[in-house]
Amino acid sequence: MCGIIGYTGRNEAEGIMLDALEVLEYRGYDSAGIAVCGEDHQVRIRKCAGRVKDLRSLCERDGLSGVCGIGHTRWATHGGVSDANAHPHQFGGVTVIHNGIIENYKSLIAQYKLEEKLKSQTDSEVAAAVASHFYNGDPYAAIRKTVLKLKGTFALGIMFEDIPDVIFAVRNVSPIVVARTEEGSMMASDVTALGQYSKDYFVLPEFHVATLKKESVELYDMSGEPVEPQWLTVNWDVNRSSKGGYPFYMEKEIMEQPQVIRETIEPRMKEGLPDLTQDGIPDSLLTECSQICVVACGTAMHAGLVGKALMQSFVKMHMDVELASEFMYTDSLVDGKTLVIAISQSGETIDTLEALKYAKRNGAKTLAIVNVKGASIARESDYVIYTNAGPEIAVASTKAYTTQLAALYLLTGRMAYARGVFDEAATRAFMAELQRAPEAIQKVLDRREEIHYIARRILNAKDVFMIGRGMDYSILLEGSLKLKEISYIHSEAYASGELKHGTIALITQDTPVIAVITQDKVQSKEFSNVKEVQSRGAEVILFMKENYRLDEDASWDSVFKLPQMRDEFMVMPVSAALQLLAYYVSLDKGLDVDKPRNLAKVVTVE
Ligand code: G6P
Repeated sequence: MCGIIGYTGRNEAEGIMLDALEVLEYRGYDSAGIAVCGEDHQVRIRKCAGRVKDLRSLCERDGLSGVCGIGHTRWATHGGVSDANAHPHQFGGVTVIHNGIIENYKSLIAQYKLEEKLKSQTDSEVAAAVASHFYNGDPYAAIRKTVLKLKGTFALGIMFEDIPDVIFAVRNVSPIVVARTEEGSMMASDVTALGQYSKDYFVLPEFHVATLKKESVELYDMSGEPVEPQWLTVNWDVNRSSKGGYPFYMEKEIMEQPQVIRETIEPRMKEGLPDLTQDGIPDSLLTECSQICVVACGTAMHAGLVGKALMQSFVKMHMDVELASEFMYTDSLVDGKTLVIAISQSGETIDTLEALKYAKRNGAKTLAIVNVKGASIARESDYVIYTNAGPEIAVASTKAYTTQLAALYLLTGRMAYARGVFDEAATRAFMAELQRAPEAIQKVLDRREEIHYIARRILNAKDVFMIGRGMDYSILLEGSLKLKEISYIHSEAYASGELKHGTIALITQDTPVIAVITQDKVQSKEFSNVKEVQSRGAEVILFMKENYRLDEDASWDSVFKLPQMRDEFMVMPVSAALQLLAYYVSLDKGLDVDKPRNLAKVVTVE
């Protein structure tokens, strides 16, 4: 978490950094700051608690001139949200920005007797102090000695006051990418912040030092040997990282779904069959395993739950879905016959990365489903399927989720085919239905004003329940997360058959219930469960498959009919409907939809 940026070149650094920090704000938005090296070689800082827009106002009143600088947008871990704890931190002639956690900062404070000298409560300032302690004119020696002292994760941008207009970058786990632009060099936490300046970048290898100068970028390993960077090309259009006329990124990203799902599916189709050769995935990976295990967090984990239903129903394979943060601590059973799938939009979630490493240590084969090219989880896995969602900026994940689903459908189709569970005709039929998903989602998006109207019914609710069975329940877990994270309404998804075992005690006329009914085999049971909550006075908002008939005796508060697909594919239109529901509640409450409180999009702390 936290976004970092660095620029050195021919142009003024301040504006470039402020723009980039705005893009990086999805990584944290508790405070923001920049440091700029002036013509007199003094490194000056502007920083404040609050958003980048607050920093921008500060800079408008009292700006910084210079062509080299580093900047930071913070998600607070050590030390509260305050001006003093905002980055950059300066100690002696060393100025530092940091993303990650220095776990041994307390012992470093004691070892270097820093107690009285620090101005903040952060672990990051300690890194600046240790670097300053070791610095005697040789930046590489100081950086090498500093990182040997640090325990934990870090991405550091460092400026030394007597080496003007040069930025040094080093990292362990937390990401840094480096790019050359037409008129300078840049570094950032991820490529979305650099996309408008350059399409070519490299991921800074762990425990290597990048030196950013106006005219060049150099890369060294820890022994000081030069290393050739592995250049990559940004695989998305930079315009996709703008709001494109929508008030919030979330709405834009919801609306992009039909297109990005197509872009995820179509390159992996050959003559109507799923084809993963472009991803370098051999059929043996899919045929030689005897169980599958997904490791993921948040929304990505919810995608895994849908994957489990697909694998079990079509491939007849056992599949576990594990919270990555729990995986290593529950003695998970994986072995050489297990295919572990790590799902992650960012490819940087540390819990997922650590779970993946654990799986590898235990002999499992690994496959990542990742959105960001070259991300750590992609690099750590044996195989990768990239979702082609493009940059997802809103903290609440939408298009990343549905493209993860698309990847899981592709994998299911290929696996069923490769294992002989599907013949060619069944595989083609499965894929043809998947190809209909963008159109089904588009039909929901075209009727978004109906969902906006429905959303008003829960605007003032304190608690909401979401009920369904089977795959309806899996998608509701995600719908409920979406609602609570951006509207701050307490919401719980419940398997509707389980409600009567306790939780129905909470249902009153003040608890609206959102029901999703799209699965033919449990349809009548789901309708019965809806009646049970209606009998307790709850107002029910119903999302159901369009061909279902409503009981004419019952009174219905709100009903949204979903375009019809095969049961196993209904999660696609349902997702879009529930995303829009959460979006409109947040919008109408006047909340900052893209940046809900306390959250960050990329979670690089355990
Ligand atoms: C954060 C985000 C969620 C996301 C989760 C996992 O909590 O706010 O939207 O689902 O991390 O992120 P990943 O990048 O691994 O998919």
